Amino acid sequence: MPRPEHAAGAAVTQSFAIANQKGGVGKTTTVLNLGAALALQGHRVLLIDLDPQASLTVYLGLDPYRQERSSYSLVMFDEMALSRVLKPVGANLALVPGSVDLATAAIRLVQERQPLNRLQLALRESRLGFDFVLLDTPPSLNVLTVSALLAAQQVIIPVQCNHAAALGVRAMLDVVYRVRDHMGNPSLSVRGIVATLFDAEMLYAQQVLQELRALLPKQTLQTVIPYDPHIADAPHQGKSILTYLPESPGAIAYRQLADELQQA
Ligand SMILES: Nc1ncnc2c1ncn2[C@@H]1O[C@H](COP(=O)(O)OP(=O)(O)O)[C@@H](O)[C@H]1O
Ligand SMILES: [Mg+2]
Repeated sequence: MPRPEHAAGAAVTQSFAIANQKGGVGKTTTVLNLGAALALQGHRVLLIDLDPQASLTVYLGLDPYRQERSSYSLVMFDEMALSRVLKPVGANLALVPGSVDLATAAIRLVQERQPLNRLQLALRESRLGFDFVLLDTPPSLNVLTVSALLAAQQVIIPVQCNHAAALGVRAMLDVVYRVRDHMGNPSLSVRGIVATLFDAEMLYAQQVLQELRALLPKQTLQTVIPYDPHIADAPHQGKSILTYLPESPGAIAYRQLADELQQA
């Protein structure tokens, strides 16, 4: 039997974990700017910061040392409702902030053998009617990354096209498939690999992208996020690239990514 909330026509949420065990590949930047692009299109978007470094939270103007309620509560406490931890951060945009305590959470979850599916349950139970949920993950393959992969329907893997890119993607895919097949999210799928920080003048980057497209033709997205220094500047102005410089190559690319993700 469908629940009454379903019968009332609650919006169908699409959730994406943005993950790659490497740091500095544009995960947080993608969550921020893809989220902004979707929100500007009129979608209701929720961002969840699961990185103890909490750069997404900082980019959005909050202090990760002062968050009483944060994603920590979602991964550490049973039946913590999303509505208790999220904060509006813009039109159509809400954030579950990260906090520095997440580092402790990662250790406690393992040491105390606590369940890793609390975030999954919180998202499933939520009837808040978000169209998109984007989960930012730490630059490592730890239990917080696993929690995000358990909670999301799909994974987006941002990749910087350098020497170890393909190997890194393989390792990430292995983890995704392990979570899907053995850990409790059987319908998890890879929505796409997206090249980020892409320097079109660098022949090597072009070769690596071609390799990825040959190796994983279905998974590698058409959209390429260019290297664009304005993208790095925008959060320091308290903005996404979409509102900072809407016609910049970076803004155009993130709008294109938002469109591509909505194609069947
Ligand atoms: N397309 C881009 N062009 C230029 N700088 C970028 C781009 N994407 C990310 N950056 C910058 O690169 C650094 C790492 O990006 P970030 O999103 O924090 O990576 P991750 O979350 O994977 O560690 C940040 O300083 C960010 O501003
Ligand atoms: Mg990050």
